[in-house]
Amino acid sequence: MKQIILSVVLGVILVFPVKSVAQTNRTDVQHVMTIDVSKSAAKIQPTMYGIFFEDINFGADGGLYAELVKNRSFEFPQPFVGWVPFGNVKVMDENPCFAKNPHYVRITNDGSLTRAGLDNEGFKGIGLKKGEEYRFSFYARTAAVKPMRLSVEFVNSASENRLKQNVEISGNEWKKVTVILKSPFTDAHSRLRLVLTTPGTVDLDHISLFPVKTWKERENGLRADLAQALYDLNPGVFRFPGGCIVEGTTLETRYQWKNTVGPVENRPLNINRWNYTFPHKFFPDYYQSYGMGFFELFQLSEDIGAEPLPVLSCGLSCQYEKGEEVPLDQLQPYIQDALDLIEFANGPVTSVWGKVRAEMGHPEPFNLKMIGIGNEQWGKVYPERLEMFVEAIRTKYPDIKIVGSSGPSAGGDRFDYLWPEMKRIGVDLVDEHYYMEPDWFFKNAARYDNYDRKGPKVFAGEYASHDKKSGKANNFLSALSEAAFMTGLERNADVVHLATYAPLFAHVDAWQWNPDLIWFDNLRIMRTPNYYVQQMYGMNAGTNVLPLKMDGKPVAGQDNLYATAAWDDCTGEVIVKVVNSSDKAATVRIDFNGLKKQRLLSGTCTYLQSDNLKMTNVLGTETIIPRTRPIQVNAQSLDLELLPYYFGVYRLQVR
Ligand code: AHR
Repeated sequence: MKQIILSVVLGVILVFPVKSVAQTNRTDVQHVMTIDVSKSAAKIQPTMYGIFFEDINFGADGGLYAELVKNRSFEFPQPFVGWVPFGNVKVMDENPCFAKNPHYVRITNDGSLTRAGLDNEGFKGIGLKKGEEYRFSFYARTAAVKPMRLSVEFVNSASENRLKQNVEISGNEWKKVTVILKSPFTDAHSRLRLVLTTPGTVDLDHISLFPVKTWKERENGLRADLAQALYDLNPGVFRFPGGCIVEGTTLETRYQWKNTVGPVENRPLNINRWNYTFPHKFFPDYYQSYGMGFFELFQLSEDIGAEPLPVLSCGLSCQYEKGEEVPLDQLQPYIQDALDLIEFANGPVTSVWGKVRAEMGHPEPFNLKMIGIGNEQWGKVYPERLEMFVEAIRTKYPDIKIVGSSGPSAGGDRFDYLWPEMKRIGVDLVDEHYYMEPDWFFKNAARYDNYDRKGPKVFAGEYASHDKKSGKANNFLSALSEAAFMTGLERNADVVHLATYAPLFAHVDAWQWNPDLIWFDNLRIMRTPNYYVQQMYGMNAGTNVLPLKMDGKPVAGQDNLYATAAWDDCTGEVIVKVVNSSDKAATVRIDFNGLKKQRLLSGTCTYLQSDNLKMTNVLGTETIIPRTRPIQVNAQSLDLELLPYYFGVYRLQVR
């Protein structure tokens, strides 16, 4: 790689600029930075900046998974959660349609004036858009000789019934019925109503409503706007499915990937680890339908061009909760789950699990390269389980990289115990988590400068700046501190191979945890300032770190400045990222060394700036968004006037 850079860059003299935003021709610069364009200090992994998905804050059901009906299979412990039945409606499980989801409803219209049917409330309402089409489907049977009529209705939030369409049900065997409905109104809090209008009895199960326009128009699809927002981050890695839900509140309720593949109607429901959270029970109705299971998550990785990184239970349930431990002599089924997952992702269609993948419509392998074992574990119980997984995976799949954990925090006893253990076991990457104050992020921009270069690589698997004084808002201060910290991730790309912000999604009407990268309601999406920081890194990752110094040192907070430089082998550009965390503007000159031949260099500056550190974006109005300006270059160095509270990314073409 280094040679390629040299061949492209050497012999070029950069020529710099006329004035533009955040660019100056002043001679009284306060700071001079130097970038050596002829040297690659480290390769930047294509996986470097990624995303981490967990079903928290209604991120899956009610969020990214586009199903609009809550409790579609009547499997919640209280089977009418999400539904309001009226008239004669019973929950049954005799001779069910789906063995793993045996409940269904039996509706009887007794011919009297009492109506019989049920309403679904969706996830804090059903979001419908005027003129959009929705695919409504269900499974049904009836003993009646003549066809039975079901009225399917869209009811708006003012309880006005605005759409009615009759659907016929006939036959004594379970049968799928599908109909496309067009919404005559826009409302984020609508309901779906089903009324049996013919006297008699019908059985209904798996009652489902999806927008036709899902991401890539798949029937069991994802919400298009949310999936698009992920694509727009240009992520290199996609970690899933959590988080604490990997571990479960109990071992029984851990995330079991085998329950999430195969026909969607037969994936058994699981209670969500975030069904309750300390200190109060907030969400007794939070379950995982697994409609968006491992197949869909692998498929999404592929769609957005990110390497999949599934994480599995190591045989410990969430240690913040019950902390149940699988005895070591009973760990084999857990290890087998990991081996089978690799087969599901990569195995030939003739293998047991490769066949399942192929039957779901993906005969080609997903090309899995990494797997995580355990989430935020701690104590001796973790390494003693992890090493059994490592041995089995290395034996069968020596090329798969294994990610271990350093526990739930950025430092401390658990962290200090686990890192040497991870080295001893020989994992490839260690997952570090830090949810800390903005100040910590600013102060830790040099965190990795002195990390051991010979040990496992770092996966900054969950991090977010928590401005507790502002109620942990996704404000500009938190975003700026993350941008500053990330200069240190990039500068240390030889050690840090992956980084993912957490959590990813939050429904504005149903969340347990903040801050979060993307907020949404049933119709709209709001990208936070933190999202744009991630996007600016993801879109401008580069391929190689270039040495950047100020007074002979990396720029990691001196005079509130943070900076990193990269070369992009794909485009032949130098990429400079600079943060000014001061309330005052700063003048900076960047000298580019290691260039020989004089050439014109021009490019763009994309920046985020706000004078108000408390500023947030809100649904419908994103105030803090990246702005892009051209940069004209006509000298060998670039003079910049960095605005107060500023994060800028400069892409400069070497021609
Ligand atoms: O991101 C939210 C939670 O934070 C994750 O589930 C867990 O790993 C961490 O404690």
